[in-house]
Amino acid sequence: MQLHSPSPSFRFVLAIALTAILAPNSIMAQPGKGNVKPNKIKPIATSTAATNTHRWFLPDTLGMHKYVSDLMAKMTLEEKIGQLNLPTVGFDVTGPVLSKDVEVKIQKGLVGGVFNTFTPVAVRKLQQKAIKETRLGIPLLFGFDVIHGHRTIFPIPLGLSCTWNMDLVEKTAHVAAVESTTDGLNWTFSPMVDIARDPRWGRVSEGAGEDPFLGSAVGAAMVRGYQGKQQYQLNQPSNILACMKHFGLYGAAEAGRDYNTVDMSEYKMYNDYFPPYRACVEAGVGSAMASFNDINGMPATCNRWLLTEVLRKEWGFNGMVSTDYTGIAELINHGMGDEATVAKRSLYAGSDMDMVSELFLNKLSELVKQNRVQESDVDLACRRILNIKYRLGLFQDPYRQLNDKAPAMVHVSNEHRAVAYQAAIESFVLLQNDWVMEEAAPRTVPARGAKSGGPFQIAQSGDSQSVLPISPSANIAWVGPFIKDKRNLIGNWSGAGDHKQAISLWEALHAGKKWEGQPLTEIENRSWDNESNYALGCNALEDEALIARLNAHGGMIEKSEKSPQTLIEEALALAKTKDVVVVYLGETSGMSGEAASRSNIQLPENQKALLRALAATGKPIVLLLMNGRPLDLSEEVELASAILVTWFPGTQAGLAVRDVLFGKVSPSGKLTMTFPRSVGQVPIYYNAKNTGRPFDEKQKYTSKYLDMPNSPLFAFGHGLGYGSTVLGWGDGSRNEDTVVLKMGTVAFKMGTAALKVSLSINVSATGGTQNRVETLQLYVHQRSAMFTRPLKELKGFEKVFFGDQASRTVVFEVSAKDFSYFDANGQPMLEPGLYDVWIGSASDKLSLHKLVKLVE
Ligand code: BGC
Repeated sequence: MQLHSPSPSFRFVLAIALTAILAPNSIMAQPGKGNVKPNKIKPIATSTAATNTHRWFLPDTLGMHKYVSDLMAKMTLEEKIGQLNLPTVGFDVTGPVLSKDVEVKIQKGLVGGVFNTFTPVAVRKLQQKAIKETRLGIPLLFGFDVIHGHRTIFPIPLGLSCTWNMDLVEKTAHVAAVESTTDGLNWTFSPMVDIARDPRWGRVSEGAGEDPFLGSAVGAAMVRGYQGKQQYQLNQPSNILACMKHFGLYGAAEAGRDYNTVDMSEYKMYNDYFPPYRACVEAGVGSAMASFNDINGMPATCNRWLLTEVLRKEWGFNGMVSTDYTGIAELINHGMGDEATVAKRSLYAGSDMDMVSELFLNKLSELVKQNRVQESDVDLACRRILNIKYRLGLFQDPYRQLNDKAPAMVHVSNEHRAVAYQAAIESFVLLQNDWVMEEAAPRTVPARGAKSGGPFQIAQSGDSQSVLPISPSANIAWVGPFIKDKRNLIGNWSGAGDHKQAISLWEALHAGKKWEGQPLTEIENRSWDNESNYALGCNALEDEALIARLNAHGGMIEKSEKSPQTLIEEALALAKTKDVVVVYLGETSGMSGEAASRSNIQLPENQKALLRALAATGKPIVLLLMNGRPLDLSEEVELASAILVTWFPGTQAGLAVRDVLFGKVSPSGKLTMTFPRSVGQVPIYYNAKNTGRPFDEKQKYTSKYLDMPNSPLFAFGHGLGYGSTVLGWGDGSRNEDTVVLKMGTVAFKMGTAALKVSLSINVSATGGTQNRVETLQLYVHQRSAMFTRPLKELKGFEKVFFGDQASRTVVFEVSAKDFSYFDANGQPMLEPGLYDVWIGSASDKLSLHKLVKLVE
């Protein structure tokens, strides 16, 4: 690649001029940090803290301040410390199991909120204690992990992010808010916006994947969905306080092992990991959670730079910070001191609420009396918590219209099921679909070598040449542990969801059955659910030790009494009599999520054995996958004709899978995390650097492996539909055209109209089924910069629903912000020079290109 470098002297003059204009908010790079000469940097934009402030303007800010001040004037030190205490209250099937201590503490005014309990009955009981039995009657917060739905369960967050449909993501969060608030909750510990580049980490299932731009959009959409579009709407009874977590950088745990250390340059933090947290702040998130991990030697829970300097001062966050579960007590294990010391350090850093440790409760009062902690720091934390309660409207109505009858009316309603169905459909990612199938006369297995170009060479998917969609008249063998399974459909962190309310694929195939929220279609007129069309084929897992571990935490994994060999033989006998085999394999829900890191990211060995045996029959194989992370599918891409990733699809799982299989709707999901060829490539992500010795097959001394390519198996943004799409410039321009933009008049504010380029694209759908959808993605690359820049970065996307139209025009606007980045001190940079802009349907399928030239 040719490199063009803007003149250093030019930058020097500009830097001086801009420094004068932007001072004191813009800070030139400081010597010693990032090894950069300050006079070569051109900073842009003013501090965003200032621009965020308006988002925190509430119509009643003065009223809030006065109310909380008056209240605090009446509070004892112990009562203020009580507000900082967040214990958990267990829950069982018949109602809340209240720890006696928590009730007593509530009565004494020593609890600010509880979590893990809900239902109007349970909430009213505890809230009444706080309101009626304490001296000041301060209402409690009721928190819970409502992560991807409360009673109606949506696909896991990683799956939701693959919809690339922010309206839909927002809608799922809003449905979750509606259902959880009728259960008495007013605080959810969501969204989780940790960028993750390591699929070994089980919690990748909870986030939006590897990309900061998309992750920011998802985080902001969820905040809007939970809290309402505007800040002042937080007090509406069906809105819930959101919690941006885990701040910060929890997704970069070393070796993908949960709770592990994070060590990262500020350059990487600001550019790759911070943006989604910041986007949540800009969307007005009311609370944040400090993460378990340490960052460059300082645990987040007691990291003042992170929680105060960055979060509050730089970004303008004005809500409250909770620790994560026993986060303060865990500082002792981190080696941060004894109980009193870690309590003191956490408060000073900016942690306001102590989740479960009770070290604020037990230590702060003494520390204040000893003058080791300033009472004003306790006051500050207490005020932030009371402000949130005020904003939630709890002082006006602590019960937020609790109504015993409401849950039955709204939970898992038809309307909510319809949202879950749509979310599931759009989350599925069709990885490959390259089998040639003729109805009732399947061909023999083609040489897999024909695929040597990799799975991306397929020109068309979903036409008569492809195995998917399957004709409803085909003879199908249904095989695998997840065809009938219900337990795993709702995935991990499934809130108050009941897997019994989820619809399995097998149930969805029930002939003539009309499901709630679903119109009956011709697909339902076939009867596939005959037992003679089904074989288990294998257990979800054979490994007894793993099963025992997972079952200890609600895994409910059962093994058939039949031997693995018998199960495979039964499946083979069935497959041989059919046209096509649909096999549903993957992870059980407990294999991803918290404390579920895996060093091996392949399918379990017994499942692979089944797949190998089925492939040897020569029948076309449709592999459905249930998974909470990118898997190593290098063997499966050779064995299966089509692969559809369904994640953990939620309450409407079976209906969504069925309708995609038979082509009622086209799959449209796009990967938000790279699928590696092997765990040995991890961390692997699309927005990587070029290095000084970029990959060259023929050159030994270039950046590569001896035993495998650098490229992933499936790239970020990849996902097929039924049919293909063709892109062209909508304004008649050509690919090689250069757009020149003058920076001279930039208003020094990113995103202003002063520096913007509009790109018009025509996209046409060809072949395939109706309801075609394509997600166009726009990537930017800076050719020459002060710092090394990624080869491409997502800076725009547009999900195009064709409806009954064959083509559509989409206009992308790329602004100064999209050409900018952060330097090693977290200061925004915008440099003159050449920028590649690509548009396409995946990060590795970019057919349109323009060069943008930023000139002074
Ligand atoms: C998790 C958080 C969660 C909290 C409360 C912790 O173990 O890390 O994500 O919100 O528990 O359940």
